[in-house]
Amino acid sequence: MLAVEVESVHQRVWQAVRQYWEPNRIHGHGPDHAERVYSTGLRLAAAERADPLVVGAGCYFHDAGMLPDVGRIGHIERSLQIASALCDEMPELASVRNLLLTAIRYHEAELAFPDQLPMEAVCVRDSDTLDRLGFAGIRMTLQYGVWIGRPLCHPTDPLCHQRTPDLNGFTMDYVRHLESLPQLLMTATARDISREKQEQHGLYCSAFLSLFQKGLMRNHDDAIRLVESHLR
Ligand SMILES: [Fe+2]
Ligand SMILES: [Fe+2]
Repeated sequence: MLAVEVESVHQRVWQAVRQYWEPNRIHGHGPDHAERVYSTGLRLAAAERADPLVVGAGCYFHDAGMLPDVGRIGHIERSLQIASALCDEMPELASVRNLLLTAIRYHEAELAFPDQLPMEAVCVRDSDTLDRLGFAGIRMTLQYGVWIGRPLCHPTDPLCHQRTPDLNGFTMDYVRHLESLPQLLMTATARDISREKQEQHGLYCSAFLSLFQKGLMRNHDDAIRLVESHLR
């Protein structure tokens, strides 16, 4: 398939699925997450010689199954259903259906996968993981924390220097957990891209701690303002 044809399929997929992403802005997984994962996914596909048709479509489908009321719960199954239905309607996707569904099923870095994960699935997975890192990933985690009603941070040890992160307990514990993700990246290109994001993580955490010690990090709004000042 010519590059221009691949792009046209991607645009049709996006037109069909954008409506699912839109309401999920409420917990940080809106269309901007899809667009960043898509663009990084294509970059990885080019570097790893994976089929861009599958990688691009997989990125647009991967979190489409999230919902504004239940968030992540059951989202992979719903993303698979949305993708299956569209594969029935779009002949261009029919021949890559299994590959596409595999990429969606194993898109999260913490999920165990079969011995041989196809490179297309690896690219979608690494691209999603990269977007969970750095300033953009921290903002997404903070927004999810607001939505789920999780306290921002532990009152005396906000960055888990003396505790194991409690992912359901505090948003900043989840932010610290994100530091374990780069080691799960599977491609050299993604590991390269992750270096800058790890530096962003270090910058954010030290600025957070300094404001916390001055009593200026009181809630998620303060934490989001800090990350947005970096994103600007
Ligand atoms: Fe996901
Ligand atoms: Fe995602």
